[in-house]
Amino acid sequence: MTRSIKGLIASAAIAGFMIASPAFAADGDVAKGEKAYKTKCKSCHSIKANVKRVGPSLFAIFGRKCGTAAKTRFSKGYKAACEAKPFAWDEALVNEYIEAPAKFMTKMAGKKVSSPMRAVKIKKEKRRANIIAFLKTLK
Ligand code: HEC
Repeated sequence: MTRSIKGLIASAAIAGFMIASPAFAADGDVAKGEKAYKTKCKSCHSIKANVKRVGPSLFAIFGRKCGTAAKTRFSKGYKAACEAKPFAWDEALVNEYIEAPAKFMTKMAGKKVSSPMRAVKIKKEKRRANIIAFLKTLK
């Protein structure tokens, strides 16, 4: 009896955890992602290696450590986030970032900061998954 109650509590805790922090698992559509890149990201980001526009190139973004992109002067908020918590971009982080850039950088920095990408808000999960699927092809 006690054991099964414990088991129940444990599985409820696991389920709760999974709801609180969903891992990135969505399968995106590369062609749709490329279209979305063209309308939402291309004005500021090249996909050619080391070509900077307003922001750094998105070529081989996954695994890139924050603050290491070629020729880029990062914003104050980005630098604060990267210093507080050095991270390398993975799918889950890019997913969170392009949903709400200033909110993401504030969370990473541990204090309120802005982002030059604050106007970018890809609200639809499917659309973010498509963009990520496209970005994954750039390597
Ligand atoms: C208005 C211009 C602008 C738009 C539009 C934009 N970005 Fe950015 N992006 C930037 C800038 C500038 C940076 C550098 C971040 C900083 O300094 O805070 C950046 C940084 C990034 C980074 C981190 C790069 C690195 O080397 O750390 C990723 C990933 C990214 N953008 C993805 C995207 C995606 C995907 C889109 C489209 C959905 C997008 N951005 C749209 C301006 C933009």
